[in-house]
Formats: sequence, C-alpha cells, structure tokens
Amino acid sequence: MMDTAGQVIRCKAAVAWAPNMPLAIEEIEVAPPQANEVRIKIVATGVCHTDLYYLFESKREEGFPAVLGHEGAGIVESVGPGVAEFQPGDKVIPLPISQCGECRFCMSPKSNLCEKGWFSGYDGLMSTPESRFTCKGKKVLQFMETSTFSEYTVINKNAVAKIDPAAPLDKVFVLGCGVCTGYGAAINTAKVEPGSSCAVFGLGAVGLAAVMGCQAAGAGRIIAVDINPKRFEKAKVLGATDLVNPEDHDRPISQVLADMTNGGVDYSIECTGDVEVMRSALESCVKGWGVSVIVGCTDMHDFAARPIQLIAGRTWKGSLLGGYKLKVGVPDLVTAYLDKKVKLDEFITHHMTLDQVNSAIELMKLGQCIRTVMSVSPQ
Ligand code: ZN
Ligand code: CU
Repeated sequence: MMDTAGQVIRCKAAVAWAPNMPLAIEEIEVAPPQANEVRIKIVATGVCHTDLYYLFESKREEGFPAVLGHEGAGIVESVGPGVAEFQPGDKVIPLPISQCGECRFCMSPKSNLCEKGWFSGYDGLMSTPESRFTCKGKKVLQFMETSTFSEYTVINKNAVAKIDPAAPLDKVFVLGCGVCTGYGAAINTAKVEPGSSCAVFGLGAVGLAAVMGCQAAGAGRIIAVDINPKRFEKAKVLGATDLVNPEDHDRPISQVLADMTNGGVDYSIECTGDVEVMRSALESCVKGWGVSVIVGCTDMHDFAARPIQLIAGRTWKGSLLGGYKLKVGVPDLVTAYLDKKVKLDEFITHHMTLDQVNSAIELMKLGQCIRTVMSVSPQ
C-alpha cells in the first residue's frame, strides 16, 4: 500500500451538486487531516432517511455541493497533529453527533448533544463550513460532519469511534446511525421497562431497531405498526409480538391499540417523521404514565396535539441518535453484536457499490429495502 499520509488523496465520491438532483460520481481531492482530525478510508456505507431528507426535502441551496452519507464504517488512513487516540489501521465508525467529553452537554449524563458538533446552534443546515473536500476547483461541504459517500473523508476526532478490530465493517456500519437511533430510543429515551407494552410506528431500519430495543429491555408486548405489510416478517424476527396495519382498520390506530392493551401502551416510539403519526403515537399511549418518543426526523412541519393528552399524564419526548453518547455507545453496541446480543445482519437487505448510490437512494425512497450496504473502498 502506498503511503498517503500528509498528501492530498484523489478518490471517488458521490457529490450532491444541488438539491433534488441525482448524485454524481466524481473524482474529488481530500486534504490531509489538520489538528485533531482523522482521515478515514470508508469501507462500507448505507443510505439513511436523513440523506434523503437533506437532498429532497430541506433543500437548502447553501448546503450544496456536499458529499452526503453519515452511516458508514472504515479504517484510519492517517491522523493530524494532536490525535493520540487513533492510529492508521484502526477500525472506526464516523459519528453523526460528536462527543468532545468537555462541554456542558458531554459532562451531563442526560444528553448526547455535544456542543462541538454540527448540531450545536442548528439552524436547519446539516452541513458545516469546515470541509477537506474539493472537486473541480470548488469547495464541497461535508454533511453531518461525516460524509461517508466518499472513498476517503476527514473527520474531527470527537466524531469518530474506535471499534473492535474483529468487527465486520459491512455489518456494523448500520450502528453509525439507524440501528443505534432506534435501539437507543427504546433503551435510553423511552427507558422501556420489563413486562411493559410498547408500540413502534414505522418499520424501517430505525423502527425495527426500536422493536429490537424494546425486546432487549424485556417488554412483554411489542406492537409493530406499518402500512407496508412486507416489513412485518422482519419485525417478528426482531421481537414484535403483534403486527398492525392501520389500513386494515377503519378507526384511528390509537383506538385499535387502546383496545388491544386495555387503554393504551406504556411506551410508543414514532419512527416515520410524519407529524400525523407523531400525534397518533402520543394518543396511543396510556394516560397516567404513557411515554411517547419521537425519533423520525423532520424540521419542515409543526405538529399538533391536545394539551389534555399531556395533562392526563403522558410524556412526549424526542431522541437523537438514540440518546447515546456515541464515542462510548457505538463501540459498546459493536461488542454486543460480536457477542450476539444485538442483531445487525437482519437489517441489511441489499448489496451495491458506491457507483450505484442513486439506485440505493431510489430503493429507499420506494421503501423496498431496510438497508443497502454499499462497498466503497476495498479493505
Ligand atoms: Zn461535547
Ligand atoms: Cu441517519
């Protein structure tokens, strides 16, 4: 292998030149890592709904051109000054939320919203002005600090987790966003209790991971809700005890669930990003103590609910990246996978290469995949 440390790397990346356009496979230049940065060879990546959201919904012109992708795994190629924690050859997962370990939010056990990451001061733009990418003489922005749709990327050390060298990168990459988001929403945010009843709305990767999280927490009943019955099979494998398609019923889903659970579930987890579903999920909780967690991402619409729902004792919460402090949470979940305590293989339904990224995006838009793994660089 050629020693590329300290040099600009020319490599392949999928560039989003503008909103609503197919990504273009381009040769880009990736600058060497600066102080406290790590340059990573991306081996595997998946498409997550947030990539689609950025490209097709939020459509902020000033956020382009950009390299999307934030759910990936790779190998450290080189490190910048001041990085002792990583060495070339380390297996790593980029983190969509950093963990500096020093800010107010990192110091509190109550939150994972590190102040040093892109989410701090969030104004709807998910890319940051800092970028090590150029293409055809233009600066190309990084997305969610990570940009995994590239053979190489440069990330602040606070937003990289070192994982077990035994981990298969083409499997554990799903912990970079989707699976840890859903799993943590059940475990960390809802804090599902043994024997409780749960409902999960939306059975994409995040929802399926929430089902798995409910099961790991010992829930007695896990009701999986989706209008796409093709997803029920996977939900069952991951722990769902009941499968409900709202289209099979001519009354509100909250009433259906209330009838099934003697007045409502203890916990509901919303994984669709649809504000109407968020309301249904809240209304599906039992009065007195029901907890509803919003996970599905949207920043485009307001939601509504009757205050009496909360006055009657329900709690409405949200969760980003499953509430995990990711530098610790992601490696722990990788270990749990290697110990066969967490399932990941079940989430991967399609295999492609980075060149096929637009097909992978299309599959996700049509709801035909859970996760497509794209090979990026050879290991
Ligand atoms: Zn921090
Ligand atoms: Cu994501």
